[in-house]
Amino acid sequence: MLKNKVALVTGAAQGIGYAVSEEFAKQGADVVLTDYNPNVILVAKEMAKKYKSRIIGIVLNVMDVKSIQDGLNQAQSKFGHLDYVVNNAGGGVLKPFAELTNDDFDKTINLDLRGTFLCMRAEVQLFIRQGFGSIVDTGALGSVYNPGGMGAYNAAKNGIMGMTQAAAIDYADKNIRVNCVAPGLTKTPLNDGGFLEKILPTVPMKRYETAAEVAKVFVFIASEATFMTGQTIFSDGGVSVGLK
Ligand SMILES: NC(=O)c1ccc[n+]([C@@H]2O[C@H](COP(=O)([O-])OP(=O)(O)OC[C@H]3O[C@@H](n4cnc5c(N)ncnc54)[C@H](O)[C@@H]3O)[C@@H](O)[C@H]2O)c1
Repeated sequence: MLKNKVALVTGAAQGIGYAVSEEFAKQGADVVLTDYNPNVILVAKEMAKKYKSRIIGIVLNVMDVKSIQDGLNQAQSKFGHLDYVVNNAGGGVLKPFAELTNDDFDKTINLDLRGTFLCMRAEVQLFIRQGFGSIVDTGALGSVYNPGGMGAYNAAKNGIMGMTQAAAIDYADKNIRVNCVAPGLTKTPLNDGGFLEKILPTVPMKRYETAAEVAKVFVFIASEATFMTGQTIFSDGGVSVGLK
């Protein structure tokens, strides 16, 4: 049980971020759901009705330094400290390489890679001040298994795995862990549009991952994997190790 622990999740208004927030709540943690979509306030209020722990929503845009700092300050003043942060907000433009415009590339890198960097930097600064903390970033199966059309997204997610390792080493002796979870094909609003259906036959386990399933991996890595740092864990039905 994670009673008296506090978790903050970015991109938590829907999809994997919502499921991770709910898993933290199920395990008894206080939870701060953040998202740039103001709907997150309502979403958090609804979640708070179902669980005993304290659950709040904060509007936080991972592409905006001030918004990140304000969000972390708000969370810290409400709960006094933060134990776990999951940097989940992400996504990107999927197109064949030669068709990617500068704008597609910039959008993807800015949201996924730069957004994760801006959050991680502020979180590590906070964790150094408080003397402890655990960060879990969000990679993607697409960073090692490439079904095509992932030039910018792949660059961003590989970059996130690299940043995870770099930050983990910098603060390994400061009681701060940094890891990354790479989800496989997960049914979320991000994937409306037939993309998943196309690659499902290549998944060794022959099914999608649910957001609730991968959420358990995020929460375990954040809270229980206490000698693990700098790692990327693939929860992908076997895709990253072979095809069947
Ligand atoms: N769904 C999958 O199959 C899959 C697979 C591998 C990796 N991922 C990764 O998991 C993460 C979540 O994916 P998902 O499928 O739940 O996506 P989703 O699109 O369903 O949800 C993403 C959430 O992030 C929020 N968001 C977007 N831009 C933001 C910003 N600038 N600041 C704050 N919040 C912002 C959105 O409002 C939304 O609530 C992403 O990093 C994605 O790349 C997803």
